[in-house]
Amino acid sequence: MGSGIRCILPTERRRGAIRLAGNGGQWPASGVNDDLQTLFSFLRFPSVSTDSRHKGDVRACAGWLADLLNSSGLSAVIHETPGHPVIVAKNLHRADRRTVMIYGHYDVQPADPLHLWTTPPFEPQIRDGRVYARGAADNKGQMLAHVLGAAKTLAGSGDLPVNLVFLFEGEEEIGSPNLGPFLAEHAASLKADMIAISDSGMVAPGVPTLGYGLRGIACCEVIVRGPKGDLHSGVFGGAVANPATAIARLVATLHDADGRIAVDGFYNDVRPLESWEREAWAEVPGMSDVDIAKITGAPALFGEPGFTSAERIWARPTAEINGIGGGYQGEGSKTVLPAEAFAKLSFRLVPDQDPEDILAKVRDHLVRHAPRGVEVEVLPGHHGKPYVADPGSAFGTAASVALSRAFGADPVRIREGGSIPIVRTLSETLGADTLLLGLALSDSQVHAPDENFPVAHFEGGIRMQQALLEELAR
Ligand code: BES
Ligand code: ZN
Repeated sequence: MGSGIRCILPTERRRGAIRLAGNGGQWPASGVNDDLQTLFSFLRFPSVSTDSRHKGDVRACAGWLADLLNSSGLSAVIHETPGHPVIVAKNLHRADRRTVMIYGHYDVQPADPLHLWTTPPFEPQIRDGRVYARGAADNKGQMLAHVLGAAKTLAGSGDLPVNLVFLFEGEEEIGSPNLGPFLAEHAASLKADMIAISDSGMVAPGVPTLGYGLRGIACCEVIVRGPKGDLHSGVFGGAVANPATAIARLVATLHDADGRIAVDGFYNDVRPLESWEREAWAEVPGMSDVDIAKITGAPALFGEPGFTSAERIWARPTAEINGIGGGYQGEGSKTVLPAEAFAKLSFRLVPDQDPEDILAKVRDHLVRHAPRGVEVEVLPGHHGKPYVADPGSAFGTAASVALSRAFGADPVRIREGGSIPIVRTLSETLGADTLLLGLALSDSQVHAPDENFPVAHFEGGIRMQQALLEELAR
């Protein structure tokens, strides 16, 4: 993988390291090529945080990012952690200015399944006005727009109108296990008046979107164990319980037939939607039930009765089976009665649900519903609390103005269905609101093959960062 910041040299930039796969005249307006080249350099690092084989790549990516920040006129420090490094970069802080934190993550999800990518995931290409690569939208393209925006303002006026703190981590995609302790240790030097994050979406192309909430998440794995080893299903089948059948029965108890979650007390702490939210969300473009059906390609919509798709995604909790397995998975058939089976579960949570409370309730539910003849073990996983802020605050107004200056329209206000597990801790530790100025699209294929990010949103994001710092200084 490339290391250092060779991308900064203009001669190198022109050397043709990027490929414009069959896009003839698609190259965006002149003057943005250097920024895109920098993005391409960033995207070439396979900084997959969950895979220990990529530890060196994650570290190299952190080094590259710190070099870029330093060469932009900020002071960047790489902080080692028990996992992947945290980078903090600041301008010269003055006591008479507001302090703005921008958070982002330079780690990415694994690129699998590789064969479904049109072009290799770590060889960025532009097609039809979008950059295709793992991490293009989540989160490298979005966070880099903030870095480049700050760099441009610094280059133009030699200073920024605010005290800026960039906080970039390499473990968001694995639940930020080391960032909480890092924040607790460095809280004093990270003090900020507000926190802005671009690690979410726009509801439709060019529709500026202000996010004022995120769902939380609680993960666990359930393992069902039967006989001491795999058995011949003819020799023993019928006399002992089949763990694969048992896991299917068990996960099926999580919902009722209408899609409501059937875990006792699951909805106890769910804060109802505000009526202004229901009214506003009904008007949000790109998020009608028809849009959601089209984007997902699902044969029909299905979810908790009494709510629209937008409400189900942004303000209602869920229980999902992210993976399920056990027994023979290969070609043809194999008459085996597997010794065990498993399911990986995650629960999206909304204010005021608490992940640890939910995991305890889920554990009780799964153990109580264990089918006869098997043993059930529940292994808790990572979790993060849900978050909601007031979009009508002074910060919300400044962020809205910055969004409309960059994208030429008033922003819509939404909560996000996805999770950024550290946000609640970040806001609570620093005592500052967090708002989301998302730039990805619902078809940006985040976490999936052919992840992509519109060049226009990258460029708009750079303008947005410049406008944001100006508006927050007022
Ligand atoms: N950028 C996403 C979160 C996101 C996506 C927020 C879309 C809003 C809209 C983030 O990188 C992510 O994928 N988070 C994970 C967290 C998990 C791995 C702990 C998620 O939401 O699944
Ligand atoms: Zn992600």
